[in-house]
Amino acid sequence: MLATPSNTPRKILVTSALPYANGPIHLGHMLEHIQTDIWVRFQKMRGHDCRYVCADDAHGTPIMLRAQQEGITPETLIERIGQEHRADFAGFGIGFDNYYSTHSAENREFANLIYQRLRQAGHIATRTIIQAYDPVKNMFLPDRFIRGECPRCGAKDQYGDSCEVCGATYSPTDLKNPVSTLSGATPVEKESEHYFFKLGDFEAMLREWTRGEALQPEIANKLDEWFNAGLQDWDISRDAPYFGFEIPDAPGKYFYVWLDAPIGYMASLKNLLEKQPAKLSFDDYWGVDSEAELYHFIGKDIVYFHALFWPAMLEGAGFRKPTKIFVHGFLTVNGQKMSKSRGTFIKARTYLDHLNPEYLRYYFAAKLSNRVEDIDLSLDDFTNRVNADLVGKVVNIASRCAGFINKRFDGQVSAATQLIHDGKNLHLVFRDKGKTIAALYEAREYSHAIREIMALADIANQYIDEKKPWVIAKQSDREEELQRICSLGLELFRILMIYLKPVLPEMAAKAEAFLNVPPLQWQDCGEPLPQHRINAFTPLMTRVEKDKIDAMLAAEVPVISTAKESGEPAGASATPIQSNPIDVTIAYDDFAKIDLRIARIANAEHVEGAEKLLKLTLDLGGETRTVFAGIKSAYAPETLVNRLTVMVANLAPRKMKFGLSEGMVLAAGPGGKDIFLLSPDNGAQPGMRVK
Ligand code: MSP
Ligand code: ZN
Repeated sequence: MLATPSNTPRKILVTSALPYANGPIHLGHMLEHIQTDIWVRFQKMRGHDCRYVCADDAHGTPIMLRAQQEGITPETLIERIGQEHRADFAGFGIGFDNYYSTHSAENREFANLIYQRLRQAGHIATRTIIQAYDPVKNMFLPDRFIRGECPRCGAKDQYGDSCEVCGATYSPTDLKNPVSTLSGATPVEKESEHYFFKLGDFEAMLREWTRGEALQPEIANKLDEWFNAGLQDWDISRDAPYFGFEIPDAPGKYFYVWLDAPIGYMASLKNLLEKQPAKLSFDDYWGVDSEAELYHFIGKDIVYFHALFWPAMLEGAGFRKPTKIFVHGFLTVNGQKMSKSRGTFIKARTYLDHLNPEYLRYYFAAKLSNRVEDIDLSLDDFTNRVNADLVGKVVNIASRCAGFINKRFDGQVSAATQLIHDGKNLHLVFRDKGKTIAALYEAREYSHAIREIMALADIANQYIDEKKPWVIAKQSDREEELQRICSLGLELFRILMIYLKPVLPEMAAKAEAFLNVPPLQWQDCGEPLPQHRINAFTPLMTRVEKDKIDAMLAAEVPVISTAKESGEPAGASATPIQSNPIDVTIAYDDFAKIDLRIARIANAEHVEGAEKLLKLTLDLGGETRTVFAGIKSAYAPETLVNRLTVMVANLAPRKMKFGLSEGMVLAAGPGGKDIFLLSPDNGAQPGMRVK
């Protein structure tokens, strides 16, 4: 796990995945970019030649259609979204060396070159396929733009690839009464010639590459599954109309967005080197003999593209492959998938409107490891963590020492030689931990690094508690001792800021100004603060305020929609639990609209494929309702049968993956086993209105 220390600067190129240009940056994207940025800043502080490039992923059908809807060209749309994305990332202190676009001259050139080389080497095949076609819009329809009746259960208005009611998966041509969501027309079947990349040609190379050092073990295992399932040819062409690059020798055919997306990493680097000539050339980074290190940070949903297609394309076209691919898990908010309908789909901009970006950088760092685990943003935990660690521990050290130095010693700190205390050389203790902390950053074990840093912060605070400078300050004969104690406190604080700087660049800059030192580098932990004058202390970070969090959540108005959000299984809305209640008040009149009724749970059963839901049949004294409730972690279904509870009877029915939910049962609690279903006393009768 530990990297070998070396004096020669490493040549490193780092990327984050390219966000689609058809939507805003959200906190899920930020998890990835913060993870990457911390790593890059760490490498730069260590003196390595590290470049960080990214871009917007600007091609594809959704972008083309959105531009049409807005009545603008796709070029205008991606230009505007590109500006927004750049501003959002800048707001979080993401220090790209270049942020570009896949809709660029450089990217077109590389895409053509790679395609032509693959074609010459015999890795491209063509064949005719049949697809759904919209005869009004005159275009082939991706599955998500077709809806119709499920061929298995007959449910209406289902997507072209799967049924949200019975869970069946099928091909869009199997749907009954299909309609194009673009025009409402009935799609027809139409033939078209498509271009395919023969991934199977690279199986031997990929198997070997997978067994090397390039992937985390859980990802290598996933790849084994894919090898066993067989590597299929990959369809890399789409017919006009399409927003993308036309295939050079195939008029009317375009590269599928995922063909030129990773090539966008190369284009962004090329563009950087054009703007800012460097010692290294493009080939030094991407030629087959490159000695540079190349790392891609990505989310777990796009592993197939980066660990199979991408290395195969590079190999087939005579370029080097990535050194490693770093895969992270997904962000959840308060324990649930980010969801527009729950108002937990938090846009980067909304966060920035209310909260300090460095809170989130710190919180993510405190939770990230090098494993492919999902990370939960629990807003209570977030508040406690940031307030306890950054404000309560780190800033506290500086604020406890700075006042005395400024007021009593005209800002002068004592020299390094006087900083040894009671035989325990705290300065050495702090300095030596740097090796461990550096190795943890290098290995992307950020949460472990943060634990080590906070343990040091505890030591520094204990030292000050023990020395009680506020007592010594009252004794006129102990001036020099007071100065020494506070100087050591500030020196320990300075070392902590070096270790935290990859995570908190803004706070580190404020600390540098306050300590009156040049920008801190990693090696600076070896040389203590010289005898010199510091500047006045300004608050380096303030506490997270709960009302700011509430305001942020209130700004993400829940969007009630039956449409499937990307990656989110529809439904699960029957969960009445909100682990971090939002303090919004509602008018009594609004509350009075809620029709609460006593209900008898006539039946309760597990739902196949649902992690959290139980299917409840509720008796309202004559009327029966089906409700899917997210209480499975707390109740075995058989214990619920015949129990009385309270339901919201006039909630609009909601279509979920597993069926229609016709209301909601009332429960409260922090979640997991601790969810408590409301249970009226005996005497209550099913159907009674609750007043
Ligand atoms: N455009 C493609 C990537 C092309 S890379 C050559 C894409 N874009 S995306 O906008 O959908 O996602 C960009 C990155 O953000 C991906 O790595 C994805 O895994 C990550 N995330 C998107 N939602 C996320 C969470 N909720 N949590 C963590 N990461 C998430 O895919
Ligand atoms: Zn169905």
